[in-house]
Amino acid sequence: MIRIVINGQDVQAYEKETVLEASRRHHIHIPTLCYLKDINAIGACRMCLIEIEGRERLATACNCIVEEGMVIYTDSPKVRSTRKTNAELLLSQHNCECAFCVQSGNCALQHIANDLNILKVPYDKRVKKEPWYQGYPFIKDSDKCIKCMRCVQVCEKIQGLHVWDILNTGARTTVDVSENRRIEDSDCSLCGQCIAYCPVGALRERDDTDYVWKSIDDKEKITIIQASASMLSAWGEELGFERSQKTINKMIGVLRKIGFDHVVNTDAAYDWMLAEEQREFLKRLKQQEHMPMLASSCPSWVQFVKAHYPQMTENLSALKSPQQIMGAIVKTQYARQFSIESQQIVSVSLMPCIAKKYEADLAVMGDAKIGQDVDAVLTIREITHMMRTCHIDIEHMEESVFDVLSGFSSGTAEERAELGDVLSAYNGRPWKEAEFDFYGRKIRIAVATGLSDAAKLMDAVLHQEAVYDFIKVMACPEGCLESVKKISVDDRIKDFVFSLSKELLHTDHEAWDMPCDGYIFRN
Ligand code: SF4
Ligand code: SF4
Ligand code: SF4
Ligand code: FES
Repeated sequence: MIRIVINGQDVQAYEKETVLEASRRHHIHIPTLCYLKDINAIGACRMCLIEIEGRERLATACNCIVEEGMVIYTDSPKVRSTRKTNAELLLSQHNCECAFCVQSGNCALQHIANDLNILKVPYDKRVKKEPWYQGYPFIKDSDKCIKCMRCVQVCEKIQGLHVWDILNTGARTTVDVSENRRIEDSDCSLCGQCIAYCPVGALRERDDTDYVWKSIDDKEKITIIQASASMLSAWGEELGFERSQKTINKMIGVLRKIGFDHVVNTDAAYDWMLAEEQREFLKRLKQQEHMPMLASSCPSWVQFVKAHYPQMTENLSALKSPQQIMGAIVKTQYARQFSIESQQIVSVSLMPCIAKKYEADLAVMGDAKIGQDVDAVLTIREITHMMRTCHIDIEHMEESVFDVLSGFSSGTAEERAELGDVLSAYNGRPWKEAEFDFYGRKIRIAVATGLSDAAKLMDAVLHQEAVYDFIKVMACPEGCLESVKKISVDDRIKDFVFSLSKELLHTDHEAWDMPCDGYIFRN
């Protein structure tokens, strides 16, 4: 251990630890903006300034390694005034329209400006707005970018992509799409990770609430929203709810109160997708066609395969994701059940990621007869704004339940049994794998989360260093929240294995009774 002194307090630090890490462990607060543990410690924002006895220049705590006997001040007069000047300079290059910014209340820059009691900025405003395609599922407001580089590093280090870069030098430095491309021409897979880590409101999802309000207010339209219990924790977090208020029945009640005519459960479509996925897999296995089969429920992953492994496009499952399947069910089965025209229905979904907005917009996700399977995708942030617009008193409102679709489970299928030994075959690779015996045939599955690890998996397959029959990838490093029962990698493998049955092996694929008039395939 190394002994240092911070603000007069003796602190034990680990070797090679930064001053910031040591301070955090001892509950000494140092403000940060650009720092992201293990991803971004480049000293860009200069908010984490510290003064070290015996040194003329101030240092940045996020990348200053501790040394024996260091005496550090995190809030000395020199630190305070320089930090304030740095924050004022940042604000002079920032469009401070907090009143209508999605990040307001949850913005690191806003917090710092408040903490430092900045009431005016004594520098000329230098704010530049670059053009951005407003139809893209996420929006960049360049006049809010503080050039912290988090997006650059997150995209590169977590997803192995290089969508963002630093362009120009000196006062003209900006963070923009690399190689001077437009975002729609880049290889962005719409995983949304850069949005999640942007400390200000420079990156945000496209707002589709106006369109949804219009449909709700249109008496000729039936507006149906699909949701799943997996969204509960994100929803509770956005609203700062206690655990007791975070129930699915409350959430359904809120959706009805906002004005949606029907609320259906995405999990019912997940079950359909699983069953159909097994049939497709077994058909391919028997015919040894386009193996390994690549699951297709994560649109970010599908986009990634098409952009980076075009030779594997045929290996992608032909199935749509649960969101799209439920959208098609709503426009067909539901329309029949309630004797309404597909065209009258506006199908909305509540989803955890922007890749779902992109997926819903694809031309192949619908046709002239029913229109798009899903007409609008809302994120938790958007639905929370809709709820606030209606001033819903969540504590005193009625709970509700999902609508029941005839011929479909309510999406509350029982948990599957424990898998026991099947999952024992994990190796030291950055993805998980399992191997099991299926009526005399060895089946090998690999599951990866995060596109950087997915690329390693695909490279191993292409170089024949690994052989699999089925590959599942979820672009988000933490896995997908689309369906409540399937969050973890282990659960995803369990679902796959337990859905495989001998009966399926001997069933003719074409004989299967398709839900929603067969609108479950991507094309
Ligand atoms: S990013 Fe933060 S500081 Fe900037 S306008 Fe939004 S809330 Fe205000
Ligand atoms: S877009 Fe956001 S994350 Fe990227 S550099 Fe700008 S402020 Fe940082
Ligand atoms: S959405 Fe994902 S892939 Fe696209 S730029 Fe952001 S981090 Fe990179
Ligand atoms: S957090 Fe250390 S320089 Fe930005």
